[in-house]
Amino acid sequence: MTKRGVHIAVNNLSHRYAARGPVTFDQVNLVSLPGEVLAIIGRSGCGKSTLLHIMAGLLPPTAGEITIDDSQVKEPSPKWVMMFQAPHLFPWMKVSQNVGIGLKFANWSEDRIKERVEKTIKLVDLEEHAESNVQDLSGGQQQRVALARSLVMEPEMLLLDEPFSALDAFTRAALQKDVRLIAKDLGINLVIVTHSIDEAVLMADRAVIMAGSPGQIEEEIVVSLPEERNAQDPEVQKIRGHLMETFRRVSTVEN
Ligand SMILES: Nc1ncnc2c1ncn2[C@@H]1O[C@H](COP(=O)(O)OP(=O)(O)OP(=O)(O)O)[C@@H](O)[C@H]1O
Ligand SMILES: [Mg+2]
Repeated sequence: MTKRGVHIAVNNLSHRYAARGPVTFDQVNLVSLPGEVLAIIGRSGCGKSTLLHIMAGLLPPTAGEITIDDSQVKEPSPKWVMMFQAPHLFPWMKVSQNVGIGLKFANWSEDRIKERVEKTIKLVDLEEHAESNVQDLSGGQQQRVALARSLVMEPEMLLLDEPFSALDAFTRAALQKDVRLIAKDLGINLVIVTHSIDEAVLMADRAVIMAGSPGQIEEEIVVSLPEERNAQDPEVQKIRGHLMETFRRVSTVEN
């Protein structure tokens, strides 16, 4: 049977950037089940990106550990891929070349690259633009290229750091929906950092609110909603209201 995502555990994780500097976050504990979409919501500066970088193996924690399927994260791996607010594409390359760059670095043959790239470009709905220059694409389309470049490596976990925040509302809504559907279809875990409670409710299976300085997890909820989510649905509104209330409460304590 094909593997459907990974079990992520964040155990008593603490971090500070400098030995005598401020503590970024303290004693963070989290679990995310195989194939889940986990949203981490929090105000600027509470340590969300730092946590994501540690999950990706790009930064060591000061104390505690992160395990993926029971093995400790110690370094980056092609099994988990990070996607950022800006797409960071190579402007002189066509869409298909940008998407296939990781496979080229991994010394795949041209034929295998072509096949995998075509399949992935189709997945993100960019077939018409496969041979376009990336500068000729809109911001949303460029983010789709970045998504394809991540997915082409067939990761088990995709870490997204506010990937839609620079996009207009319609493009954002389309990408939120598509990214969740693609992740579910492929059976990969998503961890998405966001400032937006709406984004978390529309995308997540589990949502946590981080707040404070040092940052801590103030709330964790399981978002049990149907696949088809509409911002106007009463159940969506209820969960949104609950998260909003917690967010306001922890923000008030902070101030
Ligand atoms: N390289 C660094 N060196 C020292 N301090 C840092 C570094 N990167 C971040 N920090 C500090 O660590 C804290 C957490 O930063 P982080 O970027 O993780 O926050 P964030 O929650 O992602 O914020 P935002 O929502 O604005 O992106 C902040 O106080 C920040 O100033
Ligand atoms: Mg950040």
